[in-house]
Amino acid sequence: MTCGPTLKCVPHRLAALMLRARVLATNLVQTKYLADTVNTTISGTLQKLSPKLFPAQRIAFVINAAGRRHMSSEAKRLCVDNMAAKKIGTHNGTFHCDEVLACFFLRQLPEYKNAEIVRTRDPAQLACCDIVVDVGGEFDPQRHRYDHHQRTFAETFHSLRPDKPWLTKLSSAGLVYLHFGRRLLAQLTQLKDDDKRLEILFDKLYENFVEEVDAIDNGISQCDGEARYAISTTLSARVGHLNPRWNSKSQDTEEGFKKALALVGDEFLDRLDFYKSSWLPARQVVEEAVNERYKVDPCGQVMEFSQGGCPWKEHLFALEKELQVETPIKYVLYSDQNGHWRVQCVPAGLNTFQSRLPLLEEWRGIRDDALSELSGIEGCIFVHAAGFIGGNKTREGALEMARRTLQAAANAPANGDC
Ligand SMILES: *[C@@H]1O[C@H](CO)[C@@H](O)[C@H](O)[C@H]1NC(C)=O
Ligand SMILES: *[C@@H]1O[C@H](CO)[C@@H](O)[C@H](O)[C@H]1NC(C)=O
Ligand SMILES: *[C@@H]1O[C@H](CO)[C@@H](O)[C@H](O)[C@H]1NC(C)=O
Repeated sequence: MTCGPTLKCVPHRLAALMLRARVLATNLVQTKYLADTVNTTISGTLQKLSPKLFPAQRIAFVINAAGRRHMSSEAKRLCVDNMAAKKIGTHNGTFHCDEVLACFFLRQLPEYKNAEIVRTRDPAQLACCDIVVDVGGEFDPQRHRYDHHQRTFAETFHSLRPDKPWLTKLSSAGLVYLHFGRRLLAQLTQLKDDDKRLEILFDKLYENFVEEVDAIDNGISQCDGEARYAISTTLSARVGHLNPRWNSKSQDTEEGFKKALALVGDEFLDRLDFYKSSWLPARQVVEEAVNERYKVDPCGQVMEFSQGGCPWKEHLFALEKELQVETPIKYVLYSDQNGHWRVQCVPAGLNTFQSRLPLLEEWRGIRDDALSELSGIEGCIFVHAAGFIGGNKTREGALEMARRTLQAAANAPANGDC
């Protein structure tokens, strides 16, 4: 359908023309010495087109605004005259996890709930967006511009919020999370703004969800040197896989972007629900187990959960500090789904498979009767080849496996905890 000079089309044409004028002005006014000519030319052209629609002061306004690279509410109104819904701007073409996540975050807030996502690199269209992420070359929260690609950008969570520890350069995901995350989580969890849990969840989800996206987008390796193997299933990788293949007929990214939005949204909401409904309540269970540990073994290095499957590692590390546990706890006992018992080693750190004190070397990788015979502990089921977990049919059996390992360590030189 062509847009003839009918009344119906006028507002649309007006917006489009003003827009074009603004871009032209932005581009040219930046070259300063041309400013006057441009002003005259644009004013003249627009007024010739329609003196009624383009009164001089309106044109002057647009051009002056462009000169200041500042978008006032009046200019903004011109942009959105025709569009009641808010607009989130981001770049088009190949999409990445960071801006997809940023868009998902924004859409969870009441003010952007029904926002249109405008994917473009056209500055004029971006200028008309209420908020712009991952494109535009500007970071200016007051004007809701959240790009991280400009040379001058080096912000981290810590640099913008000195009370937080994270030193990873932010991407658009982290930028939006930093500015809107707490409100987003309050909205999604219905926790009150002063609820202590809100801040814990805010930190947790940065550390365990968003920071990784920031790092990958900024090309920051997880560790120095060459990784021992590839991890190709991160959220960022899976979002990447939704882009058109280089040799597929259609290079349209809109469909994939929508899928990516749903993917990151589902995963984020799933993790948030987990941290709120499962991870946070586990803290109390772990605290009780830490406090009761001397009842399990006088050595104080073995603790027991009445029920298995409770996420305990991070809580244990946090609680050891908080409760000033002097001798680090080495083992955790719990019953598994078959009613058998597990003895699991406390890892040396949060992100390592290494154990503080792995189960005896000679037991590793051995099962059932052979293991019982070797260890002299009846009912043994297994010890993992890496030594970080073992099983026995009873609680006593599992505890005995822990005790024997502790004793062996105590007898070895340079150890003597127990
Ligand atoms: C453009 O021209 C108008 C009058 O036509 C004037 O008021 C305005 O200050 C001029 N703007 C610039 C940037 O020169
Ligand atoms: C992105 O959008 C711009 C203008 O909106 C267009 O010229 C360009 O071809 C688009 N690029 C891709 C890769 O879609
Ligand atoms: C290990 O489990 C078996 C089977 O229930 C049991 O007979 C055995 O006593 C347990 N080991 C120890 C040391 O209690």
